[in-house]
Amino acid sequence: MEIITHSTEETKKLASEIAEKTKLGDTLALYGDLGSGKTTFTRYLVESLGLKNRVQSPTFVIARKYGHVNHIDLYRIISEKEVGDLGIKEMIEDENSIMIIEWPELAENLLPENTIRIYFEYVDENSRKIRI
Ligand SMILES: Nc1ncnc2c1ncn2[C@@H]1O[C@H](COP(=O)(O)OP(=O)(O)OP(=O)(O)O)[C@@H](O)[C@H]1O
Ligand SMILES: [Mg+2]
Repeated sequence: MEIITHSTEETKKLASEIAEKTKLGDTLALYGDLGSGKTTFTRYLVESLGLKNRVQSPTFVIARKYGHVNHIDLYRIISEKEVGDLGIKEMIEDENSIMIIEWPELAENLLPENTIRIYFEYVDENSRKIRI
């Protein structure tokens, strides 16, 4: 499925639809350039799940937890070895939490077969192409 959202509101609607289909134990891998909307999407998804905590870009912290959602950002990670040291494997295998990974490329070989992969692309200031 591919959709162009023309506002953050439309991205919010999409995120709530995805949230409805997401189950405990799922892993979501969010691909796309800087500013393409990965954190924004995550924020709306976490909100839709009824978790109040404000989602921030984990860029400097790498990992954050919102209720049963683990949110990590591998942008600053430079090697697969570093990915291993973060304990992501354990987070992914945790059947009682939802795992959301921004910049998942270096964790590719840890991603389970049923990973929900979502690709974000900047179209113009207010529009993003989102492919699931
Ligand atoms: N249709 C849209 N959907 C999502 N975000 C949008 C849209 N239009 C504009 N934006 C804006 O684009 C920006 C996306 O930033 P965001 O932090 O979500 O990107 P990111 O992919 O997480 O980047 P990074 O790789 O730096 O973590 C936000 O400022 C958001 O308000
Ligand atoms: Mg981000």
